[in-house]
Amino acid sequence: MVPNSSTRLCCLLGDPTRQSISPYIHNKSFQALNLNYVYLAFRVGKEGLGDSLRSLRNLNFVGGNITMPLKEEILSLIDELDATAAKVGACNTILNSKGKLFGFNTDVEGFARPLRRRIGSFRSIRSVLIGAGGAARAATIALAEGGCREVVILNRTVEKGRKLAEMLEGKYSINARASHLSQEELDRIVDPNLIINASPLDFRDAKIRFNRLGLNDGVVAYDMVYSHAERSFFLGELEKGGATAIPGNEMLIEQAAISFEIWTGIKPDLSQMSIDALSALEEMRRP
Ligand SMILES: NC(=O)c1ccc[n+]([C@@H]2O[C@H](COP(=O)([O-])OP(=O)(O)OC[C@H]3O[C@@H](n4cnc5c(N)ncnc54)[C@H](OP(=O)(O)O)[C@@H]3O)[C@@H](O)[C@H]2O)c1
Repeated sequence: MVPNSSTRLCCLLGDPTRQSISPYIHNKSFQALNLNYVYLAFRVGKEGLGDSLRSLRNLNFVGGNITMPLKEEILSLIDELDATAAKVGACNTILNSKGKLFGFNTDVEGFARPLRRRIGSFRSIRSVLIGAGGAARAATIALAEGGCREVVILNRTVEKGRKLAEMLEGKYSINARASHLSQEELDRIVDPNLIINASPLDFRDAKIRFNRLGLNDGVVAYDMVYSHAERSFFLGELEKGGATAIPGNEMLIEQAAISFEIWTGIKPDLSQMSIDALSALEEMRRP
């Protein structure tokens, strides 16, 4: 459909935005469903966020996605924050309804869905999580809300990991502890059944090796990173040890599909969105 005077507008705000595949996958889904919507990316830093949101309201945008470095900055500018975004302390999706801005965090459910498909309940999970940033926070909240019993957070900056562990233990009945990200600490972990990478590392060049972890049947390895090949080095290593792999593009698509539904009220075709996302990622990786 060619955009016209009734076209509804969605956007991505952040900096950088050039590497994002969101405009591609959302526009493809709008076209596939014959929806008169367009999704545009705008490079906006922290200092320009307030003015940009005023413009979105004035120009009657439907909503959009919020990416780095604005996911936390935007919280004070939202009129109504949903419970999940408030718990995570970050908002990645907005909806402009009659000039009122609603804020959501779709990463939590986006993380949970691919995992639920593999293992059903999170109740007996003992998890290891690498990283303690925004993605790690979303993943641990999804796990804790699903009844996960134990999480060991391994992070380069151990203090940040400890703060996340304290928050989790304060709000949920979960046993959470944090240590420095090192081979020594990884080797101390006994019998995990979920290993998550929520750092940008691929581990090809890192000094950490996962093949020393004793893996039992049913172990799941979840890489939240989607920018490298479908099987990252991290996933490849754990798969060799018998783990079931979840690549980051699955979460990417799930959280995008939730945003899409918030703006349009319609569920997009997940398998088509997945094909579009993989071809956009492939294109992006080409030199
Ligand atoms: N699949 C999806 O839909 C999805 C959604 C969200 C995020 N992600 C991906 O998840 C990754 C993390 O995102 P984020 O938003 O959590 O970022 P973030 O808030 O900046 O946190 C990054 C985390 O990675 C650690 N880290 C960064 N560089 C490192 C290095 N060289 N060595 C060791 N640790 C390092 C940081 O440790 P320090 O605390 O020591 O700095 C921090 O814990 C990104 O690759 C992002 O693209 C994917």
